[in-house]
Amino acid sequence: VTDNDAIACVRTVAALRHRLRDWREDGLSVGLVPTMGGLHAGHMALVRSSLSQTDHTAVTLFVNPKQFGAGEDLDTYPQDETVDSALLAGAGAHLLFAPAGDEIYREGHATAVRVSGVGEILEEQFRPGFFEGVATVVTKLLLQALPNKAFFGEKDYQQLQVVRRLTADLNIPVEIVAVPTVREEDGLALSSRNAYLDEDERRAAPALYQTIRAAAEKVAAGEDPAGAEAWGRDALEKAGFDPVDYVAVRDAETLLDSRFPGRPARVLAAARLGRARLIDNVPV
Ligand code: PAF
Repeated sequence: VTDNDAIACVRTVAALRHRLRDWREDGLSVGLVPTMGGLHAGHMALVRSSLSQTDHTAVTLFVNPKQFGAGEDLDTYPQDETVDSALLAGAGAHLLFAPAGDEIYREGHATAVRVSGVGEILEEQFRPGFFEGVATVVTKLLLQALPNKAFFGEKDYQQLQVVRRLTADLNIPVEIVAVPTVREEDGLALSSRNAYLDEDERRAAPALYQTIRAAAEKVAAGEDPAGAEAWGRDALEKAGFDPVDYVAVRDAETLLDSRFPGRPARVLAAARLGRARLIDNVPV
């Protein structure tokens, strides 16, 4: 265990387990906040939720290679452990787990977690293998830490549903807590990848949130979901997004087509603006 700017930091699964076992023996409840670093106010909202709902909070920092496709930004993904440690220490988090790649994926690692249904649609169609990478690492982190609660942002809404599915299916004894998306004043959802936007793109970016909100209002007012999706796609293209991967009105839990009136629905979208691929979602 080393102290990184006043937050204790462990780098092995054994040290993580040791520390968390001590907490549990002291009768403390444990919150886990999995991250890939590059912490921003969205991550800090997860940390604050954990601090308010559990006794001790452990934050994981691991840029998971298995959830990056060929040609994606694994090598340039924003990260600075010193800055992240200082932010976490300032917020009052209790432990940072920052393992090296070969600590998580030991030589010979051969197991993957694949979630069918909700893990096979939308994002997965544009980033093949993404949810298998996420599901595998989240399963490992949950089993390594065995927290009482784990905190995920609604910004990655499909990821949240995939994580809920796998914890239920694999009987992992953890409560998954969803934390609302944190936005800039103009509505842009916070994301590490916003750093890729140039000035003009940054000015255009809030159109993503404005468009899905307007599409959600259309559906709430009785418009056919397919009509709202087509309208949203067109609006995003006109705002300069290229390509628009999807604008989808879906059942809020299964993310399958929203065919059952009366069930909660969600509008989800993904589109590229220059180097940045942005995703966002809102409830109907
Ligand atoms: O949302 C993220 O940052 C990642 O997908 C997660 C949950 C930390 C898994 O690597």
